[in-house]
Amino acid sequence: MKIINSIIHMQALAIAPERNGRCITFVPTMGYLHEGHASLLREGRKRGDVLVLSIFVNPIQFGKNEDLDRYPRDLERDCQIADECGVDIVFIPTAAEMYPHGFQTGVSVREISLPLCGGSRPGHFDGVSTVVAKLFNIVRPDVALFGCKDFQQLAVIRRMTSDLNMPVEIVGMPIVREPDGLAMSSRNAYLTPAERTSALCLFGAITRVRELFAAGEYSIDVLTREARAIIEQEPAAVIDYLEFRDSSLLQEVEVADSSTLLALAVKIGSTRLIDNTVLGENL
Ligand code: PAJ
Repeated sequence: MKIINSIIHMQALAIAPERNGRCITFVPTMGYLHEGHASLLREGRKRGDVLVLSIFVNPIQFGKNEDLDRYPRDLERDCQIADECGVDIVFIPTAAEMYPHGFQTGVSVREISLPLCGGSRPGHFDGVSTVVAKLFNIVRPDVALFGCKDFQQLAVIRRMTSDLNMPVEIVGMPIVREPDGLAMSSRNAYLTPAERTSALCLFGAITRVRELFAAGEYSIDVLTREARAIIEQEPAAVIDYLEFRDSSLLQEVEVADSSTLLALAVKIGSTRLIDNTVLGENL
């Protein structure tokens, strides 16, 4: 496994003749890898010849008062997991090289970036789409894998890739959960043991809504009330948003159907967690 820090070096490997007709699969991450990231890497391993993992805590997708400075990092452990998943190249650029003095270009995907996390984190998806566009230009992947855990991010990336005719196939992968249902996230590391227990209310709300939907409850009002009630039972939890939207364009819906997305962001103490489910899909 090669570890590469320089953009030029990474680009050289991705461009012919070094590439030699081989299919490059790519998993972009911010590191502190867990089983969710590993599931993307294993699928990426199957789908191509050269598997590239990037680790970059992208400063431009964090708001002023967010957790950029305390975002968890453990490069040594990340490289060990990468190696076990069959990664060929780990690309770890520096912020100074990604955003040199004078940098001023951004990619902004419009409507689909605005609701949900875009509402609570203004500018967040501009930071994501810009860094992913840059990474695609550096790594030149044929296939890139993203998790449905960040459902809106996946929708934004699909839109960008299609709108800008980027020659990359985007693959969405299911949410990987802990045995008790908590969606895996690097940010779970912030939770105290008591908060870790409180955090189960996100999956609790999802489970309740899925049960009601399966039993024939399609009223968004009823489903919203039931989901909020479960989270509000938890004193440490504060809802940032809890919304039902259509899973393709993320527009508001009046009645739930099998393609309806329930997306939620909840603060547990100082940690903001997100989760989601599409009502008609398997967990
Ligand atoms: P990060 O949060 O590190 O996530 C990297 C990828 O892993 C994303 O595609 C994310 O959806 C996926 N992922 C995270 N938790 C998952 C889980 N429990 N199950 C399945 N997939 C999961 O998302 C980012 O980094 C950044 O925004 C990035 C795309 C790298 C741009 O900076």
